[in-house]
Amino acid sequence: MKQLLIHEIYQKEPIDQEICVKGWIKTRRDSKGGFSFLEINDGSSLKNLQIIADNSLKNYQQDILKLFPGASVKVEGILVSSPGGNQKMELKAESVRIYGFSDVTTYPLQKQRISFEKLREIAHLRGRTNTFGAVTRVRNALSFATHCFFQERNFYYLNTPIITTSDCEGAGQLFRVTTLDFNNLPKNKQGNINCESDFFSQEASLTVSGQLEAETYACGLGRVYTFGPTFRAENSNTSRHLAEFWMVEPEMAFTNLTQDIALAEDYLKYLINYILNHCKDDLEFFNLRIENSLLEQLNKIVSSKFITLTYTDAVKILSRNRNFSFPVEWGIDLQSEHEQYLTEVEFKKPVVLTDYPKSIKPFYMRMNDDNKTVAAMDVLLPKIGEIIGGSQREERLDCLQNRLKELDLHENDYWWYLDLRRYGTVPHSGFGLGFERLVKLCTGMGNIRDTIPFPRVPGNAKF
Ligand code: 4AD
Ligand code: MG
Repeated sequence: MKQLLIHEIYQKEPIDQEICVKGWIKTRRDSKGGFSFLEINDGSSLKNLQIIADNSLKNYQQDILKLFPGASVKVEGILVSSPGGNQKMELKAESVRIYGFSDVTTYPLQKQRISFEKLREIAHLRGRTNTFGAVTRVRNALSFATHCFFQERNFYYLNTPIITTSDCEGAGQLFRVTTLDFNNLPKNKQGNINCESDFFSQEASLTVSGQLEAETYACGLGRVYTFGPTFRAENSNTSRHLAEFWMVEPEMAFTNLTQDIALAEDYLKYLINYILNHCKDDLEFFNLRIENSLLEQLNKIVSSKFITLTYTDAVKILSRNRNFSFPVEWGIDLQSEHEQYLTEVEFKKPVVLTDYPKSIKPFYMRMNDDNKTVAAMDVLLPKIGEIIGGSQREERLDCLQNRLKELDLHENDYWWYLDLRRYGTVPHSGFGLGFERLVKLCTGMGNIRDTIPFPRVPGNAKF
């Protein structure tokens, strides 16, 4: 007999046909009339399927009356319409096979609500809840839409290394990768650790960004994008930081900052339109249960033209407001209260800030003529803050060399990166989108830890 997913059953409505479904019990209710209702879910849909199990089934007493939330079953039967009920159709079981029973005294996912904090402690089971089922389906749709978007525009999907020996962002947030014996570290004459005897014969770490490597392929293949895990040892216990997060990084030859911004805006709108069209049930669930203005916010983003303004102009606007806990002056790194003010109070829509002071941005960004600012752009969204960071890259060899010197970075460490500027250099640009911040935006989940199956944050890498 053909196994159908619950999602397919609701889509095709094969009434009066024999079907088979497999899933996990959500609830069991026994009726006085000598039968039981089982609600089952298989993860393919927010909706459950109702099963009617009659006491004439041969294992009714022995098995079905022992089914509790969490048990796994295979049900074969006839799908019948159920007018008047809460659901359009239900499955009249002809056989119920139990794969695994569940212990009602200890299974944590019963009727009562569990806080998201508590669910993080049982992250191995939370994928069975309505909320995490929906988050997972939306996250999946956003991944798929990402590939569609870039493939439609002739970008090549590129896998950049996870273990690296270069620090792209220069912010010193690297996780070291080593096989050295901590109890017996090899030291040189000066007493420093001798990395030559380490696995890679030099200091290595987990990547904070695939950008530098992506640039090398963009300067040859034209357009590439990465989509992979990145790691940052920032000690920030906030609702928008993870130590391990996924980033999408397109990189394009022959483009300037304006074209980079246009791509970022198109990409975000494409993603949101995609889930509005493909994840209706899940988004309605989030709108009802998690964030009441979610659909309004998402529709607003796709229908608004993003505002672009320079950092300097933003600082002028922010300086008029004296109520910030971090006072604003030219040169500071903007705090979330400042970003919020711009997107939620001043403009009430997505804002792209450009041309930041060089002192608060990495070495690779293209220097502007004022020699004070660089061709950077950050996309800021209401409620989310920074979702995308990008720039036009410094393609002029001498300017890049000067910048490295200014920052006390060694040319030798960047010889291959400089080679791109020695051999057929071209203007090029790119950006990075934080994938979990995107999932947060699209689901309304309040904490980024609930947008990835197993969050890694300071003090916690369980599971
Ligand atoms: O602004 P960032 O640091 O930019 C880069 O890494 C560039 N190399 C990207 C590029 O031009 N190719 O990071 C990009 C985005 C941020 O805008 C943010 O959305 C996300 O990555 N992000 C984080 N997300 C979760 N947890 C963290 N700790 C994050 N740090 C950055
Ligand atoms: Mg940034």
